[in-house]
Amino acid sequence: MSNSKILRGQQPVSASAIAALRSDSETPRALTKDEILQTIKDFGQATRRAIQAGFDGVELHGANTYLMQQFFSPHSNRRTDDWGGDIDKRMRFGLAVIAEAQRIISQYAQRPFILGYRISPEELETPGIRFDDTLKFIDVLKDQPIDYLHISLGHVWQTSLNDHSATTPLNEQIKARLQGKLPMIVVGAIKTPDEAEKVADSFDLVALGHESIAEPNWVEKVEHHDETSIRYAISPDDLDELGIQPPFYSFLLGMGGPTSVPLTTATNKPA
Ligand SMILES: Cc1cc2nc3c(=O)[nH]c(=O)nc-3n(C[C@H](O)[C@H](O)[C@H](O)COP(=O)(O)O)c2cc1C
Repeated sequence: MSNSKILRGQQPVSASAIAALRSDSETPRALTKDEILQTIKDFGQATRRAIQAGFDGVELHGANTYLMQQFFSPHSNRRTDDWGGDIDKRMRFGLAVIAEAQRIISQYAQRPFILGYRISPEELETPGIRFDDTLKFIDVLKDQPIDYLHISLGHVWQTSLNDHSATTPLNEQIKARLQGKLPMIVVGAIKTPDEAEKVADSFDLVALGHESIAEPNWVEKVEHHDETSIRYAISPDDLDELGIQPPFYSFLLGMGGPTSVPLTTATNKPA
């Protein structure tokens, strides 16, 4: 996910030396076993800093093709040691990070501190994470010491990207598989209070991505019955007020469309 320019000359690292299937990606270097153990400890130290800085919790980022997903993915993880190979070994990195973060929480937190885990349920690459792999991972995650599972999708009611005959939304299947053992956060193309309420009828917690960038006061406005003033699009004239820098605005436009940021898109792209 990174590159040597951002890393000031250093080669990015991953589970294996496999470049992501993006035109601008660089081939990473496979982490050594010692570096893997150090990285797990580093996640723990990041958790400690979040505790000491006064946050309420952290979310472990096992989604969106970042490092933790790279270990779970049969595309980016081609290791043949304890950290790769069959699905149990590809789960190990994420589970080790959970254990380390929880160890740090019990050592440092003076009050309840939330530990969440985010996943992306599918990859398009072959080989790549398929929904069956994710369901197996969920069977294990539901018994882990985490407080919730966050499912990253571009659309909350999205069906499988790989199995086009499937008609049940992925989130519905995940909910059934969790058997109520963990609360679930869902996200994806939700923007109005009515949409959020409809989603909240089916799931524990609702997250807003694009819409919270356009309307940082979304929750407060809904709480104060001020829905009519909710902003649903970002104009170039709003950028200063929203604290959005031009490169980020270009990135947002690139994700969705040429004019204003399309907060209504319901694409089937993985988020
Ligand atoms: C500009 C942008 C960047 C994103 N980057 C990340 C990211 O780095 N990590 C992540 O977990 N999700 C990322 N996402 C995905 C969002 O967390 C969210 O799952 C997705 O946008 C769908 O929700 P939404 O329709 O409410 O925006 C990004 C989304 C946007 C719009």
